[in-house]
Parts: sequence; C-alpha cells; structure tokens
Amino acid sequence: MIKKLTSIAITAFLFGCGSPENKDSKITVSSPNGKNSITFELRQGKPSYSVKHGETGIIDASEMGFVFKNGDSLHNNLRVVNTNTSEHDETWEQVWGEKQFIQDHYQQLEVVLQEETDQKRQLKIQFRAFDDGIAFRYQYPGNGTEDSLVIMDELTRFNLSNDGEAWWIPAYQDNRYEYLFTQSAVSTLDTVHTPLTIKSNDGLFLSFHEANLINYASMTLARENGTALKCDLVPWADGDRVKTNGSFTTPWRTLQIAENPGDLITSYMILNLNDPNKLEDTSWIEPHKYLGIWWGMHIGKYSFWESPIQGATTENARMYIDYCEKLGVDHLLIEGWNKGWTPQWYENAMHMFSFTKEADGFDLKEVTDYARSKGVSIIGYHETGSNIINYLEQIDAGMGLYQKYGMHDIKIGQVGSRLNMKEWHHGQFGVNYYRFVLEKAAEYELAVNFHEPIKDTGERRTYPNMMAREGARGQEYNAWSEGNPPSHTVILPFTRMLSGPMDFTPGILDVEIKQGYEGRDVHTTAAKQLALYVVLYSPVQMLADLPENYDGNPAFKFLQDVPVDWSDTRVLNAEIGEYITTVRKDKNSEDWYLGSITNEEARDLEIALDFLEEGAVYEAQIYADAEGTGYETNPAEIEVSSREVTSKDSLKLHLGKGGGTAIRFGKK
Ligand code: NOJ
Ligand code: CA
Repeated sequence: MIKKLTSIAITAFLFGCGSPENKDSKITVSSPNGKNSITFELRQGKPSYSVKHGETGIIDASEMGFVFKNGDSLHNNLRVVNTNTSEHDETWEQVWGEKQFIQDHYQQLEVVLQEETDQKRQLKIQFRAFDDGIAFRYQYPGNGTEDSLVIMDELTRFNLSNDGEAWWIPAYQDNRYEYLFTQSAVSTLDTVHTPLTIKSNDGLFLSFHEANLINYASMTLARENGTALKCDLVPWADGDRVKTNGSFTTPWRTLQIAENPGDLITSYMILNLNDPNKLEDTSWIEPHKYLGIWWGMHIGKYSFWESPIQGATTENARMYIDYCEKLGVDHLLIEGWNKGWTPQWYENAMHMFSFTKEADGFDLKEVTDYARSKGVSIIGYHETGSNIINYLEQIDAGMGLYQKYGMHDIKIGQVGSRLNMKEWHHGQFGVNYYRFVLEKAAEYELAVNFHEPIKDTGERRTYPNMMAREGARGQEYNAWSEGNPPSHTVILPFTRMLSGPMDFTPGILDVEIKQGYEGRDVHTTAAKQLALYVVLYSPVQMLADLPENYDGNPAFKFLQDVPVDWSDTRVLNAEIGEYITTVRKDKNSEDWYLGSITNEEARDLEIALDFLEEGAVYEAQIYADAEGTGYETNPAEIEVSSREVTSKDSLKLHLGKGGGTAIRFGKK
C-alpha cells in the first residue's frame, strides 16, 4: 500500500476582511494531472464554484449554500476566514470488486466561511479535484446553541456551460428507479435521478451523482432554465428536506469527467469518497453466483403465496438444491418461504409479512440441513412490502433466525411506492432506514442484496457486506411487462451502474420463456445473456433461469466458469446506448473474460487482445450469436468455438441484433 499525504496552507490569494470589496476572493485547485480544475469564488459575500476540463468550461459559476426552516439561510454575507490545500495519494485494496487495487489521488481545497452577522456561523466547503472528476461537500458545525436545524433547500447549482445529450430516468415517480432511460438534450430535462450521464456538445462524457450519502436526503437534479441544474433534495412527507441535530455534513456532490464513455466505468471516484472498511472480520462475505426459486414466480409457473403451485415448498427446495449440486452452483435463493404472502402482495398496502414463521409446506431447518449436506448455502429473503414499521419490529428475530441456521446472505425487498405508505424511498427517512438495516445485517454476519433500494453511493467500501442492489428495471420486467428493449442493457453500464453493482439477474437462456406468459420474451439473444455477466458488474450474480434450462445446455459451461470477483476491468470500446465491450481479469486465476453486447443493431467489432499477458498463450472459448441469430430471429442459438490466441492477435466479433459475445481466455 502506497500512502502520501501533504498539506500546504494557502492564504496568499485572499484579501483582508471588513469592507464589501474585501468579501471577494478566488482560488483554484487542479487535479494531479492538471486537467480538471475547480475555482471557488466569493463575490459580494456569496460563494460559488466553477469547473473546467483543460480550457473547456464545464460548469459556469454556480451558487452554493442553504435555506433553513423559518426563512433563515446560509449563503450570503460571508467572508473567507481560512483556506487550506492538500494532496492525497493512496492505493487501497477492495475486499471484493471489479478491480483489486484502487488509487485515490486528488488535490483538495478547504474553504472556511464565516457570516458577517452577530451569529458568526461558519460553513466549511471541501473541494477535491481528481483526474477522473471533481467533488465537493459542505460541513456545518452548528452555532453552538441549536440542537435541531431543518434544511429546506440546498442551493447547490450545476450551471452547465454547454448543452449535451442526457440519459435519464424521472424523479418523484411511484416505481422508484424502475424506468427505462430516455435520451434527450439537457435543455429539455425536468427533474431526474442521479447518476445523470451526459455527452456534452464539447465531446466530453459527464456523470453527476453523489457519494457517501448518510443521514441526509438524496439529491435529484431539477432543471431551472437552459442547461442550469439545481440540487433538489427529496423531501419528507411533512415537506422538510433534511432534519439535523444542529450540525451536518452533506454527501459529496460528484461530477465524473471523461474523454471517452468507457472511462466513466473505470472511474472509482465514488468509492474513493467513501470511508474505508469498518468491518474487522470479512471472512463470512463471499461473492457468489446463485440459483433461485424466483424466475418461476415471475413467469407464473409458481406462486409466492401458499397455493397448489407454491414455489417455496420443502420439496421444491430439495429439488433446487439437487440442481445446485448437479450444476456446480453453491448458493440458492428461496423467496416466499414465510407467512404473509398473498396474491395482492405487490399492491400498495401495509402488508404484514412474518420474518420467522414458515409457510405451510416449508421447513427452514430441514432445507438448510439438506443444503449444508450438499455444500449449498441458502440465501434468505425478507420482503418488507415497504411496511417498515412491521419489519423493524421483527428485524432482530428475522436476521437472528438466519444466523442460527448458518446463513450469510440476505435479499431484502421494499416493494411499494412509499415506505410506510408515506415516505419516498430516497428521502432522509429511507436513507437512514437502509443504512440501519445494512449495519444490523453486519451484526448478524449477513451480506445484503437490496431490491427497491436507495441508490448506491459507494457504501460497499465502508460496509463490504453491501453486495448488490437492484435500483433499475431488471430482468424481472421481461417476465411480466412489455419488457426491456435491447438498448436498455447498453445504457445501464453508463448510468445506473456507475453508482455500483446491480443485481440485474441475467442468464435467461430460454429467451422465449416457453413456460411463461403468452407474448412475453427477453428481447435478447442467449449469447448476450452470457455476456451480461462480464458487462454488468456484481459480486453476486444470479443464474436466473429455471435450472432445467441450464441442465445439459453446452452454453452453461460459460456460466459455470465466469467469476464474480475481479482483479482488473477495462472497457475496450463503447458508445452509450449502442454497444460496449468489457474485459475483466479473474481475481483467482490468470484468466480474462470478455463480454460484448449491442442494442437493436447487429454489429461487427474487431478487438485487439493486447490486454492479455505478453508472450502467454490462451485458449479463447467463444460463445457467439449463431449465424442469422438476433433477438427477433432464432435468438437462443449459441455457436461455441475455441482457438489459441496471444496478446498480438485480434478477434472479429459479430453481434446479432440485440446480441452479444462472451469469451473466456484461459491461460495455458
Ligand atoms: C421485486 C423484486 O425485485 C423481485 O426480485 C422479487 O422477487 C419481488 N419483488 C418479490 O419480493
Ligand atoms: Ca424490483
């Protein structure tokens, strides 16, 4: 581990204080390679910042500050009382991840402002300039007397210098983050969630998000006029935005900046802005692939609730455990094993799930004993139905039960439009709820997969039991809705997935869903489903199809081989919404894996293999769309071939419409 910390105090740029013209100051901090710069400015007592990449303006002077309850505010009549710049360069190791060693290298500027009133309240702003973007946050230490303070508005603005194409999902909608992305000009946006990804008219790739969201409301972005965006904090039901105990630290407001789209994906700035791992013992946290009593419920073969087609029965669980053994899969998710499920389980209501009582026909002890005898770990499931009152009353008993049976993984769902039929999932109430559950799970040595989550802001660095989450339209939509179009999976890597791992649940090889609802299918080729395991990063990857669709299928070999923990990741080519080719190196061997996927268009791509070790020989096991295959015609046929390659070779890939290629490069 390399560590270098330096700190230089800079006050030379500042003028004295007192008269109005002395309330002016300007100071710039630049990233280590000098390309990204942030300029802080205090003009007439009002703070603002601007951002440049080289000579290209990205953000014009933009307001900063707060409005509190009862009309009080902290955004003007300020003077600079201290500034400090420092450099930080450290390389740290991920417990698991898409890259093992991550460099955290930035230049920081801290500015301390003080009000020119009797109160003399202070506000600290920290700016960090990285080679892959910029970030800033506010710290308000309190005024020494108040023990509560309510933020009604964070005034942070992002006045984009130029228009561009944005990929976005709408904020303040009942299905949380589960929407298809729209591509349109920034100048047409309303209020959107982050990550918000933009291809600017200057040719730069930008993504707005936030990092280390703790005890605060999540930030959405509202367009005010032209290309000016404003921080819009998701409110409580009573209209307050953030309730504090008199002091607060905001999450980091982040802007990733790249010259090509793939560099957004290999930027680790969000993780770098989170605190280091707090868990001493991480031996119980295990990245894995898993089968599930799950897809059967979504395609209508099984029910979640007690019925003649109940999915979670002891008998079905034993059958799935036998499939795990046969297919070489060591984790199994079982949904619907508990009391409380009804045919109306997904409607907005205060559903009363039990987290300890088994459904008729299901015996948790028998199932976990049988699983253990076969070397299989059972993944627990808690569907809260967004009845958080009910869940928190039972959370210790529910997690304690899983611990008692030796389970170390849990999926937790929050289906519903509001938590407790009242609060947005992404307001401060939700942020605190999800953090509480994550910490509670760590106490019970449970690794978490949240569905209907709060968006990821890099918590996995601090709590490596935070494995994956949903937080977008996943595979399930293909089972029971009009589905996701082929372009969806070539937008996700540049938008939702910039925030962190997603439990997308790939791997449906029966793409026509023969046992499912009439007219539903996956709008993909089967080869593309394999490629998703490399393109869509997650430390927990479901093998989502019915196990009988894997049994005897030659393409399943790739799904057996593909790892879930990587030492390195590179994006070889990409265009947002069009195509992407990603390669990753296995953390536990010398093998590399490639996933290449396309939207509705068929494409031919040539891939240089110079990422492979020089001089070494690899066997490339190639799983490609068979001739004439596309998402509309013959989608399930995969052509499997193999050839010897070295780093000097290149490979021609043909991706059918809605198709893909997956390759294992096994080092010989
Ligand atoms: C929605 C989740 O995304 C899905 O995976 C789960 O099966 C259902 N809710 C039931 O809880
Ligand atoms: Ca969902």
